[in-house]
Amino acid sequence: MRSPIPDYLDEVLDTCSSDRSGHVADYIGTLASADPDVHALAISTVDGSVYDVGAREHQFTIQSICKPFVYALAIDDIGLDRVLQAVGVEPSGEAFNELSLEGGTGRPYNPMINAGAIASHQLVRTDVWDPDPHTPGGEHRTEDVRRRVARVLGGLSAFAGHDLSIDYATADDEFASAHRNMAIAHMLRNHEIITNPPAEAVRGYIDVCSALVSVADIALMAATLANSGVNPVTGARVVSPTAARQTLSVMATCGMYDGSGRWLAQIGIPAKSGVSGGIIGVLPGQVGIASFSPRLDAVGNSVQGVQMFERLSADMGLHLM
Ligand code: DON
Repeated sequence: MRSPIPDYLDEVLDTCSSDRSGHVADYIGTLASADPDVHALAISTVDGSVYDVGAREHQFTIQSICKPFVYALAIDDIGLDRVLQAVGVEPSGEAFNELSLEGGTGRPYNPMINAGAIASHQLVRTDVWDPDPHTPGGEHRTEDVRRRVARVLGGLSAFAGHDLSIDYATADDEFASAHRNMAIAHMLRNHEIITNPPAEAVRGYIDVCSALVSVADIALMAATLANSGVNPVTGARVVSPTAARQTLSVMATCGMYDGSGRWLAQIGIPAKSGVSGGIIGVLPGQVGIASFSPRLDAVGNSVQGVQMFERLSADMGLHLM
């Protein structure tokens, strides 16, 4: 007998598709020309069942949804204490691309904003993974940058349960006008939060933001966090329980930017959004959920995605509180 879950997900997707408000992100070329009406929804349980509906085959760049995973990898690579010396855990109350560094230490407020993600990308190990020989060249893609990107892409792939690739056209487009991220990286270098040249830190961070995923990929990545770091489909341990717990805690308070408080009160699960239109939500010990719809609200969260999560949370009693 066919599971009733896909029919239910189809119905949620359909109901939430009538709201055409919001706009696609316009500061990255390939996102600006994205079809605003492509949408998809997926759920992955911690026992390894994955259900996806809508544009299931559609691939999009992961963008900020990479941030929690990079943070978790950095924690396992160098230890939580050293990560906490470089990146804080407090909501910034500002937009994702603001400087948002603590006075005194210069630490970014948290790993979910751009400043924190550029810093955590610089904390992963470079001595374990060999760079992909097929990586295209390009300004500032040094050996160190390529090794770091290879480590993170390997980690993201383990979360997703298969090899992911990078959309270098999107990455190059974003890098060409990444003036805000460059300014942030220069301030991080000034405070010695990062030690590499700022342009290299931004290059690596942007390459990782351009990893291509489907909605089922990010649902399974979320389910791996829900499952304390073990991928429910492959059975591989991707990160430690400590890294998974720390990451979910920061997602709960900071994952939806200045919409985080409202999100936690209304929907009640740790989450992370990205400017390409994805949102992941994690119900610890139970499920990873992922939505995709590129029209964004004023704080950069997907309009229809927020509605889909509202429905799912209310219908299935997912609110943690
Ligand atoms: O650095 C940036 O601006 C993008 N690569 C990622 C930003 C993002 O996804 C913010 N999410 N809502």
